[in-house]
Amino acid sequence: KGLAELTGTIKMPPRWALGYHQCRFSYATDKRVREIADTFRIKKIPCDVIWMDIDYMEGFRIFTFNKKNFSDPLKLNTYLHKKGFHDVYMIDPGVKVDKDYSVYQSGTSQNVWVKKANGEEYHGKVWPGDCAFPDFTSPTARKWWAGLYKDFLAKGVDGVWNDMNEPAINDSELPEAERTGTMPYDNRHKGGGGLPAGPHLLYHNAFGRLMVEASQAGIMEANPDKRPFLLTRANLLGGQRYAATWTGDNEASWKHLKLSIPMSITLGLSGQPFNGPDIGGFLGNTDGDLWANWLGFGIFFPFTRGHACAGTNNKEPWAYGPAVEKSSRIAIERRYRLLPYIYTLFRDASLSGLPVMRPVFFADPQDLSLRQEEEAFMLGKDVLVIPAFAEHPSLPSGIWETLSLVDGDKADKYQATLKIRGGSIVPLGRIVQNTNDNSFDPLSLIVCLDKDGKASGNLYLDAGDGWSFQKGDYSLLTFEAERKGQTVRLELTGKEGQRTVDKEIKKINVTLLLNGKAYTASGTLGRNIDINL
Ligand code: NOJ
Repeated sequence: KGLAELTGTIKMPPRWALGYHQCRFSYATDKRVREIADTFRIKKIPCDVIWMDIDYMEGFRIFTFNKKNFSDPLKLNTYLHKKGFHDVYMIDPGVKVDKDYSVYQSGTSQNVWVKKANGEEYHGKVWPGDCAFPDFTSPTARKWWAGLYKDFLAKGVDGVWNDMNEPAINDSELPEAERTGTMPYDNRHKGGGGLPAGPHLLYHNAFGRLMVEASQAGIMEANPDKRPFLLTRANLLGGQRYAATWTGDNEASWKHLKLSIPMSITLGLSGQPFNGPDIGGFLGNTDGDLWANWLGFGIFFPFTRGHACAGTNNKEPWAYGPAVEKSSRIAIERRYRLLPYIYTLFRDASLSGLPVMRPVFFADPQDLSLRQEEEAFMLGKDVLVIPAFAEHPSLPSGIWETLSLVDGDKADKYQATLKIRGGSIVPLGRIVQNTNDNSFDPLSLIVCLDKDGKASGNLYLDAGDGWSFQKGDYSLLTFEAERKGQTVRLELTGKEGQRTVDKEIKKINVTLLLNGKAYTASGTLGRNIDINL
């Protein structure tokens, strides 16, 4: 919380960004993108977002669309929207050096490029060959960059992916000893505003962070009434205000599967709650067993996206045969059931900076045996996630009941075990295929009593996008439960905000978990619900 006071918090993301994302380097034609989208819907595997990696561009020129394979992006994006998807497109920092390319022309006329030590324009190789790089330390360059997004987003682009922004540069032509994989450290940055002029060595770690500040500004200028969604590979302390971060190019291996947990926990502790790895592993082929194991817990990462490198096998949830497809559906459905809880956690993170995914020692800071745990993790303070592969995880003591979210999840060998903390009430939605659907009807409340027979929990709802919540259009509900004799009474004890939710939440199903048994009752919002033991 102290770090967040100093460096800021995330903006409340759009609700769709908390659903499942499907990516690949690349879905190379609009036809393939439609096929992927259709398959999710036909197979009834929930999904909210399809991603466009570099091949949608014309010759890897950012802010352009390939004339042959993505000839009508507005049509494609409208198609995706009609099917309940959102789309995210990649924008890298390198701008192809091409005198006939409008982005290079306008950047040159505004003198935005990073310079070499001798003052000439610096060129480095990325996907399109020689590129010039905006000097994001300069307010003029940031403003110019922001202005590029308007026409691009007008094609129905919902979210943006800023990649290669360390910046990564292919310097394999240099002798091995001279390679850094990035710009020469004596390149010159202009600075401006509060920033001094300085060499790349000074600004290297800030490059990505300054880029996403400019990108977010552009996205918000173009679509002021929407919440921005931006993903970045490079970021810096404080950069959480501008973009979610993913952990870059991992390998399809058990080693990287396991590493993804402490990496994401650490990013969360570093003030960047909205993060996650490439589920399934990016580099190399993935087999069904690795995929299903990874998805079985990866689906509970704050940012949850399957991705795959060019030249590797297909890595969609159905790519590994019927058994793994079934497990993948269960995993993703579990995420969708938990969305009301996860959305509430994101709201907390946007206010307090507390991570969404947390180390288990957050459950009991006194218990030193939890300090090194990096298999199990917490989602918020009330849900414990124990991946199927975990052998001897150190778990917090006290009351924890096992939670089933979807038929068949407990029996499925790939699904993480979920536990709910004694003393908590966790809100769940119904399974929806995407977050455009109202998932609160019915709302399920899972109650787990503490040793004194009490429990409480919150549910945060708002419009799911836009800023009306800042003017009071939200509802923060507090539920409490208490045992008296053989009855547990659930009450709505608090309602903050002006949003009326009776239309969204018509029916409430309560499940009390007690000593491994489940007791159920139903009712409506605002009425006490009694559960008889
Ligand atoms: C590197 C990124 O880390 C990866 O996710 C992406 O697929 C490739 N660049 C191609 O754009």
